[in-house]
Amino acid sequence: MAQLGNSDRHRSWAEPYKIKMVELVHMTTRAEREAAIRKAGFNTFLLKSKDVYIDLLTDSGTSAMSDRQWAGMMMGDEAYAGSENFYHLEKAVRKYYGYKYVIPTHQGRGAENILSKILIKPGDFIPGNMYFTTTRLHQELAGGTFADIVIDEAHDAENEHPFKGNVDLSKLEALISKVGAKRIPYVCIATAVNMAGGQPISMANMKALRAFTQKHGIPIIHDMTRVAENAYFIQQREKGYRSKSVAEIIKEICSLTDGATMSAKKDALVNIGGILAINNKKLYEKASNLVVVYEGLHTYGGLAGRDMEAMAIGITESVQDDHIRARVGQVEYLGNKMLEAGIPIVKPIGGHGVFLDAKRFLPHLQQSVFPAQTLAAEVYLDSGVRSMERGIVSAGRQKDTGKDNKPELELVRLTIPRRVYTQAHMDVVFESVASVYEDRKKVRGLKMTYEPKYLRFFQARFARI
Ligand code: F0G
Repeated sequence: MAQLGNSDRHRSWAEPYKIKMVELVHMTTRAEREAAIRKAGFNTFLLKSKDVYIDLLTDSGTSAMSDRQWAGMMMGDEAYAGSENFYHLEKAVRKYYGYKYVIPTHQGRGAENILSKILIKPGDFIPGNMYFTTTRLHQELAGGTFADIVIDEAHDAENEHPFKGNVDLSKLEALISKVGAKRIPYVCIATAVNMAGGQPISMANMKALRAFTQKHGIPIIHDMTRVAENAYFIQQREKGYRSKSVAEIIKEICSLTDGATMSAKKDALVNIGGILAINNKKLYEKASNLVVVYEGLHTYGGLAGRDMEAMAIGITESVQDDHIRARVGQVEYLGNKMLEAGIPIVKPIGGHGVFLDAKRFLPHLQQSVFPAQTLAAEVYLDSGVRSMERGIVSAGRQKDTGKDNKPELELVRLTIPRRVYTQAHMDVVFESVASVYEDRKKVRGLKMTYEPKYLRFFQARFARI
């Protein structure tokens, strides 16, 4: 049974914790913000955190840890090899996710690097339910090519499909007939698809995909960075799951896959860390050997013992129904305010943030003048709220032609850190976006003045046109 403690499904999602320590934030004037965003080349990644009031850049590594996690940090066993904390982490992964072997990594992309290197050969194709920036880059660096097999609805901000993270099996089938199953080392399935707006994949779709890939002998690797949020949506939206706990649903999702990469900086409630988890012993041996080259010994993978302890406890806290209900409840609170005001956002409201649809927000701007990049800068200028571009800048260039990828989705992500901000902060964020929306006709676009080679959105610079 889903445990709801003292709460009732029809009552508020109020946080199942109280505040014990606070961190003061900085308020700035418009003139200070104007100077800061210019200095940052109109890229919110290049702002100093001290110049930010409410930081919705990302939900990655920005969670508030619990008193238990902090207590766990004091129990760090900082041995080079075989730290107690590693075994706690291994136990938590086995218990809640069900994967057999686990290797810690410094963060998600560390796991993606190792996985891509052991599984991908040059010329391979890696189908996935929409790309993620670092995941696709590691696939490409290993000589592979990403193939998008998410359903079409995922590319349409206004479509209200309840499971926009679903795979379109006919797209996968077409890829197999074109290149052959032998050139597909695995299918990469993300739960709560980030680039689609935090949209879940359904259990029914996972099962159908599993049956289909087994027929072709293709394994499934799970990007489980936001698996708890996905499980919550399954509980709320999918027939037959209402009375199952989020923990049970997570375990079932994982059981339909052969291994996973995870950035523990999101759902797992830590500020740093990741894991590579795998069921096959031979692959595990390869991975645990390679991790020594890039991350550290296979019982610490670039982390301190204390980090692994915080992660083990964070995993346990992250799968509790009360926690995840409040987490998604807060995101929905902000999203619903936007919808009521007629502000265009991605629907349905996702698990980790509210995504502004910059194409409809600033319809007078062509994609070539970076509407989402522009909008993120404008929201910052208005209030000091920091968000992030998820559009043409994030999509980067095509591997073979070097041309810009032109994604359908041109979004600004207001990402909500876990257990950090209050409902009043959400009100301030809404008021700021609403005020930019009122003045939207005055907004001009940007031009790119510096473009780095890899993952350009992190470090590119822009100027006003
Ligand atoms: N996979 C997904 C779905 C992610 O969202 C991220 C990170 C990663 C992998 C890589 O993990 O950052 O620990 O190396 N997403 C962050 C974000 C950066 O802001 O969405 P990492």
